[in-house]
Amino acid sequence: MNDLLDKKLLFVTGKGGVGKTSVATSLAFLAASRGQRVLLCEVDGKGDVAGLLESPPTAFKEREVSPGLFAMTMDTEEAMKEYLRLNLRVPFAGRIGPVAKAFDFLASAAPGVREILVVGKLCYEVREAHYDLVVVDATASGHIVGLLAAPQAVNSLVKVGLIRNQTDWMLEMLTDPAQTGLVAVCTPEEMPVTETIELAGRVRNETTVNLASVVVNRVLPELFGTQEEEVFETLTRPDVAAELELLVGSDTAPVLEAARLAVTLRRTRSVHLDRLREAIDPSVPLLYLPYLFTRSHGLRTTRQTATSLGEELGY
Ligand SMILES: Nc1ncnc2c1ncn2[C@@H]1O[C@H](COP(=O)(O)OP(=O)(O)O)[C@@H](O)[C@H]1O
Ligand SMILES: [Mg+2]
Repeated sequence: MNDLLDKKLLFVTGKGGVGKTSVATSLAFLAASRGQRVLLCEVDGKGDVAGLLESPPTAFKEREVSPGLFAMTMDTEEAMKEYLRLNLRVPFAGRIGPVAKAFDFLASAAPGVREILVVGKLCYEVREAHYDLVVVDATASGHIVGLLAAPQAVNSLVKVGLIRNQTDWMLEMLTDPAQTGLVAVCTPEEMPVTETIELAGRVRNETTVNLASVVVNRVLPELFGTQEEEVFETLTRPDVAAELELLVGSDTAPVLEAARLAVTLRRTRSVHLDRLREAIDPSVPLLYLPYLFTRSHGLRTTRQTATSLGEELGY
């Protein structure tokens, strides 16, 4: 379980809005704070990583945003130019223009071409050992299978040559559970849990990547246990409530209602969590992150979530 950060390449995915970027950033932050040299790559480029690390906007060219933590934004065109420079020894960016046009055509015609550039860039960083760990704030669960399966898709089209050599070593890296893992983020709600269960099945059947863990984000704290619940029930009894109001000197009903709502919410959420635990392979650890009751999310919440993740991983 605590070998998660010993892997080389972690893809973080999940339904939109569940906390992919928050979890990916906190994982990277945690690894860096443990002394690892980390690259955090935002694939859908909304710029949320910069906000969570309170750094200037990220770009394709990575930048050290906090000690040991480098951040970048994926850009398929830049990735292609880099690929061509490295592999075809095309010396000047200017000469790439026509190739880029041809590529754009190819990318829209053949499945997996755009994806292979994204995965290729990330695998390249791992292979060259520029970093101890590469964390990818990847695409949402609807598109992640296409991304992870891109090397196979391209392999099935190309049998020999340069491209085949490329996809072969990438596949090897992606297939090795010691090197590569997928982290699925969800919240304890019906739809995100259903989507996570479906995702786990598709990842198993359609990709060679290993599901390394499921992060359950926004878990509500337990307000009280069974014993306190008895006290609470007593407080809501009409005679006791009336006396309580007299003592407090104002209406206590809204407070008691709020507490009841919190308990109900937590209960319904635990039903979804049970469903998740039953459906996911028992060897895949579930990591729980608390709901953060704060208005703004930045370095402070990133640090907080990194600490929670560290505790869940047993560090
Ligand atoms: N544990 C949490 N508690 C409260 N709010 C959270 C938590 N995790 C994420 N959020 C908030 O939820 C929103 C979506 O999170 P984000 O990481 O951007 O999700 P995604 O990348 O999956 O779209 C953001 O506003 C973020 O600040
Ligand atoms: Mg995001």
